[in-house]
Amino acid sequence: TTYFNNGTYLEKENMNVSIDDRGYYFGDGVYEVIRVYGGKLYTAEEHFTRFLQSAKKIRIDLPYSIQEFIQIAEKLASENEIQDGNVYIQVTRGVAPRMHNFPGEQIEPMITAYAIENLRPFTKLESGVAVKTVEDIRWLRCDIKSLNLLANVLAKQEAAEASCAEAVFVRDGIVTEGSSSNIFGVKDGILYTHPATNLILNGITRRVVLKSCALESIGVIEETFTLDELYKMDEVFLTSTTSEITPIISIDGREVGNGEPGRLTVRLQSVFEQTIK
Ligand code: PDD
Repeated sequence: TTYFNNGTYLEKENMNVSIDDRGYYFGDGVYEVIRVYGGKLYTAEEHFTRFLQSAKKIRIDLPYSIQEFIQIAEKLASENEIQDGNVYIQVTRGVAPRMHNFPGEQIEPMITAYAIENLRPFTKLESGVAVKTVEDIRWLRCDIKSLNLLANVLAKQEAAEASCAEAVFVRDGIVTEGSSSNIFGVKDGILYTHPATNLILNGITRRVVLKSCALESIGVIEETFTLDELYKMDEVFLTSTTSEITPIISIDGREVGNGEPGRLTVRLQSVFEQTIK
C-alpha cells in the first residue's frame, strides 16, 4: 500500500507519526474523505476546495493547489488499485515541541493521505438505519472539517451502544447534523435541512442532494427545525461521502413514517445513483 507523506510516497510500514506532531497533541489540523467509484474520484474538486477552505480558516497555508491535490488523490487510488473506496487526507500544523501557540514560520504543515477499498453500504441504503439523538456539545465552528472529533466520537459511541448507526446532534432543541453526516427531513413533499451555518459541516453530499432537488423541482427549505418536528417528519435521511443517502427509519426508538425508507428518499437515491456513473 502506497501512502502519501508530505510530497513522497511510502509503504504503510514506513509511515511514522512524530510524538511532536500537532495533530497528535492538539488535533491541530483538518481532513477530507473523498469517495472513489469505479476507480474514479467523485466530486474531488468540491472536496479539495473545502479542504483548502478548512485549512485557511485555521490559518494553515497549504503548499498545493486543488488540481495538485486531485493528482495526489488520483495517484493513490490508481497505485493502490482502488475500485470502490475512500481517499483520506489530512493536514496538521506540523511537527514542533509541544506549545499551544503556532510554531515558527519555518515549520511546514504535515500532509498525509491514503486510499483504501471500501464497498458501498448496500444493505443500509436499502433497509435504512436507526439513529439516536445526542446533545450537540461541539464548538461553534462546525463548518471546519477539524481533526478534533471528540464530541463526534463520544456521540457515535453512545449511538452504537444503543444499536444505532448514527448519532443526531441537537443544539438548544434544534437538529443540527449527524456525528459524521448531514440530516434531512421530508414533510408534505418538502425537504428540510439545517442551513449551512457555522453550526454544521456543509457536506458535499448535502450539496449534491440540494442540486438534485433543484433539477427535479423538489421544494427545499434550508431552515432549522426542532427535534419535535424531526419526530413528525414523513421521511428522514442522512447524507455523507461514505453513507451516500441513507434512509433513517427510526429515531430514539420511534418509527419514522411507516418505518420504511420513504418515497422521496428512494427517488433521491436513484438520482444520486445516476451522478456516480
Ligand atoms: N464525515 N457532517 C459531519 C460532522 C461530517 O463529519 C461529515 C462527513 C458530513 C458529511 O459531509 P460530506 O457529505 O462532505 O461527506 C457532515 C466524513 C465522511 C467522515 O468523517 O468520515
